[in-house]
Parts: sequence; structure tokens; C-alpha cells
Amino acid sequence: MFAKLQETLEDALAQVAEAADAETLSRLRSRFLGRKGRLTSLLRQTGQLPADQRPAFGQAANQAKQQVEAALAQAKERLAAGPAADQGPDVTLPGIRPRRGRLHPVTQAMRLVLDVFTRLGFDVVQTPEVETDWYCFEALNLPPDHPARDMQDTFYINDNVVLRTHTSPAQIRVMEANQPPLRIVCPGKAFRRDSDVTHTPMFHQVEGLMVGADIAFADLKGILTTFVHQVFGDDVPLRFRPSFFPFTEPSAEVDIGCVVCRGQGCRVCGQTGWLEILGSGMVDPNVFINVGYDPDEVTGFAFGMGVERIAMLLWGIDDLRLFFQNDLRFLRQF
Ligand code: PHE
Repeated sequence: MFAKLQETLEDALAQVAEAADAETLSRLRSRFLGRKGRLTSLLRQTGQLPADQRPAFGQAANQAKQQVEAALAQAKERLAAGPAADQGPDVTLPGIRPRRGRLHPVTQAMRLVLDVFTRLGFDVVQTPEVETDWYCFEALNLPPDHPARDMQDTFYINDNVVLRTHTSPAQIRVMEANQPPLRIVCPGKAFRRDSDVTHTPMFHQVEGLMVGADIAFADLKGILTTFVHQVFGDDVPLRFRPSFFPFTEPSAEVDIGCVVCRGQGCRVCGQTGWLEILGSGMVDPNVFINVGYDPDEVTGFAFGMGVERIAMLLWGIDDLRLFFQNDLRFLRQF
């Protein structure tokens, strides 16, 4: 009887361990522990044993029932946990999603600007960030005593080589390498020895240049008006304010109606209702001479805008430094 009990217990445990579903478990439960189950029947036969063996057998049989009970409970948990619990990784579980990157707001603003001009027929070109004095200043009609050439404003590599302080050297490089007519935009970095709330030593500009037989100030106005309306909306007013740049004559800075207060006057526009967004003008004849063009044959206009400034106005960002701190809480919002 004791041997039979042991054998039955081992059989029960082996079958429970192999069970692959809840149905099998409940069948095993009644087969071994049910009213007519094998362990139950053995326990009932205790009376057939000699009296002195009965208590020990009763105890052993009850222990066996408890063991099978425990094995069944464990098997039930194993099945509930799914295949992963005992068969390694569950390849059907969803994976951990990799974080999606996104474009920096300055890149987005840059692309927006370039999109408008490429649709207007402008080609996109890029020229060096490290320039010689000739391309950055001299050829652009900047006299040797011009303040922009001061060590205070310009990063000098040596007497003749600088980090470009604007993207205007692109005008010279493009005209030197091509004959008119041409229309180009040049996006890129510019560098100035400036660092405060509204200035960073590196910032981005988009330069524009259109040259041909008969380009007039009206063309400059038309193209830049289209640009402002496409980027900021058709209802945004703009004005051309007389200004001065050594490489354009006449020159104009373009203001748009403050996008924050809609022209009412606020902190952002300094109560004027207007925001400056770019510099522009008709290419100075001296610049044409410097690249070998005949100023009696061609005319043209040029403009240059700060991309961070455009981004700030587009999305209401009030601190320039946010663009360069790489704080993901900021960058994720775009
Ligand atoms: N280069 C000028 C600046 O950085 C902008 C400009 C470009 C003005 C082209 C006129 C024509 O301020």
C-alpha cells in the first residue's frame, strides 16, 4: 500500500508538470483528488491495513494529496503567466519603441524659408563658413575702417582669414562662378563675437541674390512680399524702411507687423508694432565690378535674414538661447 501510494503520487506529479492547459489540470484534479480519484480511493482503503500501520498511512496519504494540490496550483500559475514564463522571451510581446527624433526648430524654419524661394525659382547653394577678408568684406565694398572688421565683432583665424560674419560672401562666390541671370539662396551659419540674451556667437542666415538684365527694386519688393505672406500669412503687413549696407544701394530693412500683438504695441516689438526681419537692397555697382560684371548691363537685389529670428516669430519663442541649450523638453515641442 505504501509503495502504491508513492507510485500514484509520482504519477500525479509527472502528469501535472506536463499539463499544457487548464482543462487538463481539472481532469487531473478529479483523476487523483476527486471523490473516486486514485489518491482518495487509496486513503479509503486505510481500513484494510493492520491497525498499527493505519495512522502512518493516513498521514502519508494526506501529505500526498497536499503535494498534488500544491503542484496543481503552481501549474495553474505557470499557465496564467503565458508561454514566456518557461520558454524564454515571448517574441509576440510588443517591443520597446525607439524614441523618434525630430528636426531642430532652426532647421524647420530654414526649410520653410528655402521652400518658398525654391518655388519662386531660386537655386540653393552653400559656400564656406571660413572665409578670406576679400569674400567677407573687401569684395562686398566694406571699407577697411568699417566697424564690422573690428576684432570686437569678428572671429579672426589670422590677418586674412575669418569666420564669416554673414552669409553675404555667397553673393561674391556665386557671381564669380556664374554668369547672369541668376537667382540663388544660400543658407548657413554666421559668426560674431556677440553673446547676450539676443545674440549668440553662432547663428543662421539665409542669403538671397537675384541678378539679371532688368531687375528693379519692384522685383525685390514683390519677391520679399510674397515671402513674408507665404511664411507668416497673407494678412501680415510689411514695410520697407530705408537703411544702409555697404554692398547694396539703395538699401532697405524689412519690418513685418508684430505677430505677437498684431501691431498694437507690446514688449516684443518695443511698443512700435513692427518687427525687423531682414536686410536687403539693390546690389551696389562696386560689388558688380569686383566680380567682373558690368554694372551698366546688369542690376540685381540681395537680402539676408536671420533664421533664429524667423523661428522665434513663427512659434512665439522669447529666448534665443533656447535654440542652443539642447533641452529636450524644449526641442520635443516642435
Ligand atoms: N549681410 C547683412 C547682415 O548680415 C544682411 C544683408 C544681406 C543686407 C544682403 C543687404 C543685402 O546684416
